[in-house]
Amino acid sequence: MEIKLLSGALGAEIKGIDLRDTSNENFKKINDLLLEHKVIFFRNQKITTEQHIALAKKFGPLETHAYVKGLDEHPEIVRIIKAEDEKNQWGENWHSDVSYNTRPTKAVILKSIKIPPVGGDTCFSNMELAWETLDEKIKNKIKNKKAIHSSLGAEFFLDNYKKMQRNKKKNYNEYSNEHPIVRTHPETGKKILFVNWTYTKKIIGLDEKESDEILNKIFEHQARLELTCRFTWTEDAVCIWDNRSVIHFAIADFYPGRGFGYERVMDRIAVEGDHPQ
Ligand code: SIN
Repeated sequence: MEIKLLSGALGAEIKGIDLRDTSNENFKKINDLLLEHKVIFFRNQKITTEQHIALAKKFGPLETHAYVKGLDEHPEIVRIIKAEDEKNQWGENWHSDVSYNTRPTKAVILKSIKIPPVGGDTCFSNMELAWETLDEKIKNKIKNKKAIHSSLGAEFFLDNYKKMQRNKKKNYNEYSNEHPIVRTHPETGKKILFVNWTYTKKIIGLDEKESDEILNKIFEHQARLELTCRFTWTEDAVCIWDNRSVIHFAIADFYPGRGFGYERVMDRIAVEGDHPQ
């Protein structure tokens, strides 16, 4: 096995692991790598849809998305499509997937199907490191507090993406949940900063002004480049991220002659998480 670190903060590209091997022994290797690096990448993985699902199921029960329709034959797969004539891309701001759910996603297994010649990288930021390096005064202010995460605007956001559909069956309504701002990782016991620019709206127990000020400082801190890594996709690559300990950003840098005019297609499978503690 070969491990190439993607930055000093997190992320590793792995060679020499067969993702089709769902034995407990191979899964342990993959999960250990995930816990250590928080996001792991594998290139040239010509896995079938069934193999993609089988790999994801090793992490736990699969989730269907709160408001995005999955594939007819596999509702647990969300096909993320940026059409040729679109400049926007699903997930184009810092977020942790569905953090507004009672039990936000544990992990995501994303497979690239079609990639533009340039543009459309994905960035990840390490929220364990973000907590460790956060200003002490802010730490003291927030350490026992909860924040409201809301799906407000998320469905509307979907209207921007022509080739993705709403999950009509679910009769989706906006909703919110409260989660600790600092959660403890259930497998590693590490503290993680669990808020994100897209879905976290308010710190409970602070007035709106103070809450906004602190959240904005945290969002700025989380996006510091020294906490991040960036992955440039190729077709048939697989990325697995620990959605509890990272936030991510799918870069929509599609300008004329630079990604615009090309399709980008990804298959996303998410694994159910637990109630953040
Ligand atoms: C997402 O935010 O889940 C999408 C990531 C990507 O398409 O790179």
